[in-house]
Amino acid sequence: MIPESFIQDLLSRVDVVDLIDAHVPLKRAGANFAACCPFHSEKSPSFTVSPSKQFYHCFGCGAHGTAIGFLMQYSGMGFIDAVRELAGRVGMTVPENAGPARGTSADTPSLVAIMASAARFYREQLKCSPAAIAYLKQRGVSGEIAARFALGYAPDGWQNLAAVFDDYARPELQLAGLVASNERGRLYDRFRDRLIFPIVSQSGEVIAFGGRVLGQGEPKYLNSPETPLFEKGRELFGLPQARRAIREHDAVLVVEGYLDVVALAQHGVANVVATLGTATTTRHVEKLLRQAEKIVFCFDGDAAGRKAAWRALENCLPVLGDRKSAAFVFLPEGEDPDSLVRKRGADAFRRIVAEAIPLSDFLVRELRGRCELDTAEGRARLVAEAKPLLEQLQSSLLRLQLVKRVAQLSGLSQAELESQYRLPSANRPASPRPARQAPSLFRPLLRLLLQKPELTAEIPLELLPDDSPEARAARELCSMIASSGERAPSCAQLIERCRGSEHEAVVTSAAAELIRHPFAEDTLDAEFRGVIGRLRESAERRSFALLQARAQRFGVSGLSDEEKRQYLASLASWAGRAKRSEV
Ligand code: UTP
Ligand code: MN
Repeated sequence: MIPESFIQDLLSRVDVVDLIDAHVPLKRAGANFAACCPFHSEKSPSFTVSPSKQFYHCFGCGAHGTAIGFLMQYSGMGFIDAVRELAGRVGMTVPENAGPARGTSADTPSLVAIMASAARFYREQLKCSPAAIAYLKQRGVSGEIAARFALGYAPDGWQNLAAVFDDYARPELQLAGLVASNERGRLYDRFRDRLIFPIVSQSGEVIAFGGRVLGQGEPKYLNSPETPLFEKGRELFGLPQARRAIREHDAVLVVEGYLDVVALAQHGVANVVATLGTATTTRHVEKLLRQAEKIVFCFDGDAAGRKAAWRALENCLPVLGDRKSAAFVFLPEGEDPDSLVRKRGADAFRRIVAEAIPLSDFLVRELRGRCELDTAEGRARLVAEAKPLLEQLQSSLLRLQLVKRVAQLSGLSQAELESQYRLPSANRPASPRPARQAPSLFRPLLRLLLQKPELTAEIPLELLPDDSPEARAARELCSMIASSGERAPSCAQLIERCRGSEHEAVVTSAAAELIRHPFAEDTLDAEFRGVIGRLRESAERRSFALLQARAQRFGVSGLSDEEKRQYLASLASWAGRAKRSEV
C-alpha cells in the first residue's frame, strides 16, 4: 500500500501541465491551458488544464482528473503504475512495501485492489500453462496480443485464489465475484480451468473477468457477476486498448465476442470493442459516441444477429446526435469477425465494414419487411411502427430525412405524417439537456474549499448537516484539511484523497466548475462569508421550522422554556428580516 503522504508529496512535485503537454500539446487560454480532448473526438478545444488546481477537465466529455488520473486514463495504466511512472519522472522512489495495490486500509483492500491481484495471478498462471498457451496459439493469438489484453489463465482446482489472498473467506472476494459458495456454504473459485479476459474500466482498473473454457464445454463463457465495480450494461471489452485507434479513425467497431476483439487486433484492426454477452445499451452507445463520430455494429447474418442489431438500433436513437452516425454490418452466415479476418485478412474485413448499412437504411428496410406496402393496412402499419422510433430519434436532421422517407412509402404528405407523430418542434434545440439540479449551498462551499483549503478553520462544523452528497463531501474535505497539519493540502491532493470514495464524483465536479469559474482572490473572502451566512440562515430556518411544527402541534405552552426562548427569538429575528427586505 502506498502511503497517503507519498501520494500527496508526489502531487506537490509533478506539474500536470508539463505532463499533459508532453502527450497533448497545450495552448494557453487565460489562466488555464486548453487542447482538443484526447479522450473524445472534437474540433474545438474543450479540454482544459488548470495549473493552479493541478487538475484537468473536458467540458465536452467530462473526462477529468489529476496527474495520476491523466496517466491512468491516457495510457491505460493502473493506479500503482501511474504513481510509479510519475515518481520516476520527479526522482522519487515509491516505498518498497507499497504492495500490489492501494486499498482503503491495510486490512480491507478495496475491490479494485483485489481484482488487480487476481488479474496478476491469472496472467502469471498463463505463462505456466502449456494447454492454455497452446489454445491461444491455435486461435492465432500471439504472445504480444495476449499481453496487450492482459489475458490470463485460471488453473483447474477449487481454491487456487487461496494462494493469492491470505483470508480466502473474506467477504470481499465474494463481493468481487471471484469466489462463490455452494448450498453447504463451501467456498470455491468461480473461474477454474478457463482462459481469462480481464475487463478494464475507463480509468484503467480491472473490474471484471470473462472466462472461456479451453476447447469444448458448458458454459462456453463464464463472466463476473455484477458487482459494485461492474455493471454489464455500461462496460465494453477492449476499450482502453482500442482508444488510440478509435481516435485515429474517429470510428469504433462493436462486435459480439471477446475473441473477435482480440483476433481483429491481431490483424491490425484495433478500433474494436465488444459488449459483454449483453445487448448494446444506450449507455454503451453514449460512451462510444463521446470518443468517435461513428459507430459500426458488426453482427452475425443470422436471425439472432438481426434481432441484436435491431436492439442496438433502438438504443442508438435517443442518443444519436446530428453529427454522429451509426451503421450495421451483417456477416455471412456462420462467420464471426474472428473467423472472417483469419480466413480473408484485414483488408477484406475492412472492405466489408466500409459497406456497412447506415442506420436509416436498416431502419427503413426492416420496417418495409414487416409491412405490406401495397395495402392501405400495411401502409398504416408502417406509419404506426415508425412512430415510436422517429419520436425517439435525437438527431433532428436525420429525423427529417426519415420522416420524408416514411411519408413517401406510406403515401402521406410530410405534414400529414407529422400530424400523426409527436415530434420535438424544430425550433427547440435538438438536444435539450436535462435541467441542471439547483445548486445547493454546498456547491459554492466545496469550490471555495478546493480553491483555498485554509478556509476550513473558519467553518462552524455544526452548520454542515449530512443530508446531501455535497454536504457530506464538504464535511469530508473539512476533516481532511483539519487533520493534515500545518501545510494545507492542495486541490489536486484533496481530489486524489477522494479517489474511490463516495465523495469522488461530487468533489471532481466541483473542481471542474472551479476551473471554469475560479473565485477572484479579492472577492474570495466575501464569497466565503456570504456562503457561511447563508448556511447559518438555513440552519436557523431548519431549527425554526422544527420548533414551529412542535408549537403548532402542542401549542407554545407545550414547548420547554429553552425551546420557547429560541422560538420567540427566531420569530423576532425572522420578523426583523422580513421587514428589512420589504424596504
Ligand atoms: P460467441 O458464442 O459468439 O463466442 O459469443 P465467441 O466470442 O465467438 O467465442 P469463440 O470464438 O467461440 O471462442 C459471443 C459473446 O457472448 C458472450 C461472450 O461475451 C462472448 O464473447 N457469451 C457467449 C457468454 O457470455 N456466455 C456464453 O456461454 C457464450
Ligand atoms: Mn467466435
